[in-house]
Formats: sequence, structure tokens, C-alpha cells
Amino acid sequence: MNLPPTIKTDDIICQCHRVTESTIRNAIATGRLDDIGSVTEACEAGGGCHSCHILIQLFIDQHQEKPISVEELVHDHAQKVKKKGILTRFFKKLR
Ligand code: FES
Repeated sequence: MNLPPTIKTDDIICQCHRVTESTIRNAIATGRLDDIGSVTEACEAGGGCHSCHILIQLFIDQHQEKPISVEELVHDHAQKVKKKGILTRFFKKLR
């Protein structure tokens, strides 16, 4: 029997809408979502202050197995981060 991959931690990623990492990753995988707007439509994550956009984009890139460009992600999204702990989480999820 094939079980879905397990997410070891299920942090709240979008603090505005209380959306967890597993909800976002599942939305990306099942909906084949490839942009932040589609993720917001699917599960509300990212639809508030936009602080979590850097993490949502990271999850999209990881799902697509793209080479992660930290510089690009920081350049495109870091200025939107207003919530505490988002950048710390971002750097933890890079591993
Ligand atoms: S933390 Fe996700 S929109 Fe504010």
C-alpha cells in the first residue's frame, strides 16, 4: 500500500488565515498549483498581509523540484514579510 509522504511538522505558515504547511503543500500537489495566487484561491494562504508568500513560493519551487534561488526568493518576497518568525521558518525549510 502506498502512503502519502508524511510531513513531520505541521506549522502554521499563513498566520493571517491560520493555514498549515500540510494544507498548503497538499493544495500545491493535488491542484498542480504553480503560483501564489492559485494557492490563495485554493486554501486562503497568502490572502492577507502577504508575509507568507516567500514560504508559499518556496513550497511551489520544492514541489516542482526547481533549483532554489534564495537570492531570488528574498529579492521578490522579503520586503513583504511583516509577521514575526516567517524568515526564520523560511531558512529552516530550505534544508
Ligand atoms: S501570513 Fe499569510 S497572508 Fe499574512
